[in-house]
Amino acid sequence: MRLLSPLNPPLTKWFNQRVWIIGATRGIGAAVARALAIKNARLCLSGRDLSGLQEWHDTLTPDQKTRTTLTVLDIRAPQNIQEIAQNLLLAWGGIDLVLVVAGVYDGICAPDLTPDLMPLIEDTLQTNLLGPYHVLAAVLPLLRRQRYGHLAFVSSVAGYNGLPRALAYAPSKAALNNLCEGLYFELRPHGIGVSRICPGFVATDMTSHADHFMPALMQPDQAAHEILAGLERGDFEIHFPKRFTTLLKIAQWLPRRLYFYLLGRAIARSSR
Ligand SMILES: NC(=O)c1ccc[n+]([C@@H]2O[C@H](COP(=O)([O-])OP(=O)(O)OC[C@H]3O[C@@H](n4cnc5c(N)ncnc54)[C@H](OP(=O)(O)O)[C@@H]3O)[C@@H](O)[C@H]2O)c1
Repeated sequence: MRLLSPLNPPLTKWFNQRVWIIGATRGIGAAVARALAIKNARLCLSGRDLSGLQEWHDTLTPDQKTRTTLTVLDIRAPQNIQEIAQNLLLAWGGIDLVLVVAGVYDGICAPDLTPDLMPLIEDTLQTNLLGPYHVLAAVLPLLRRQRYGHLAFVSSVAGYNGLPRALAYAPSKAALNNLCEGLYFELRPHGIGVSRICPGFVATDMTSHADHFMPALMQPDQAAHEILAGLERGDFEIHFPKRFTTLLKIAQWLPRRLYFYLLGRAIARSSR
């Protein structure tokens, strides 16, 4: 591996690329899907809410519609994912990019950690962490056989450091961040690229009820632009907006005493 070359093969040509987006109904996933539809990629868009996917599909041009398939999928249901992966292979003959965007956030605090809240915690871990494993189990045998393809996971900067009020979400994303590193190292020799995508705050349904200050809030279209630009550069880690995410990356290196002090100050300032 050369030190300054891109970590992944750059994905420069989107025309006719076969892209499966899991979690494409709304928000960041829908914005990436729209950007790729404009670039004439072939798309399979998955989510639980078929009417939401259909509503989105109705806004495409006739040509974009013929290149786009909609599939109902729950990332917590392994059989469902395996069936769709097999059907895609039959229809497309191969897969160039699998982008896993599906995720849920719940804002769990320490006082919430009671037996009653366990179903919500389990749901967060099943969607954000076990979901990507189900996708991997379904697509890795296919990608390994074809000896090319790219896996990209939308994680979060919340996985960089421990955070209050995210006691299930942040650990799920920290584990996903870690998983991507191990996968990258193992899959690169097999011709398969891996990217982890760590957005800061993006204005979607997920953040619409946030009652705290969200620094450097971005729009979903800007997030989609950053994601595609990162894949086109061949980046392993795609994080944005840099003015916010770089600070959180630096915080990973700080002694925890200093990190907790600065976090406390930032929270106090944002709630003033
Ligand atoms: N918004 C932010 O500030 C932010 C910041 C950092 C990271 N992220 C990450 O970005 C990703 C997308 O978030 P978003 O902001 O776009 O949220 P969103 O608007 O709430 O969209 C969530 C997406 O995930 C899908 N989804 C949720 N549960 C699913 C399941 N069980 N199976 C299949 N699909 C499922 C939803 O589709 P259905 O409801 O149709 O299933 C929807 O398309 C998440 O992984 C999130 O953690 C977001």
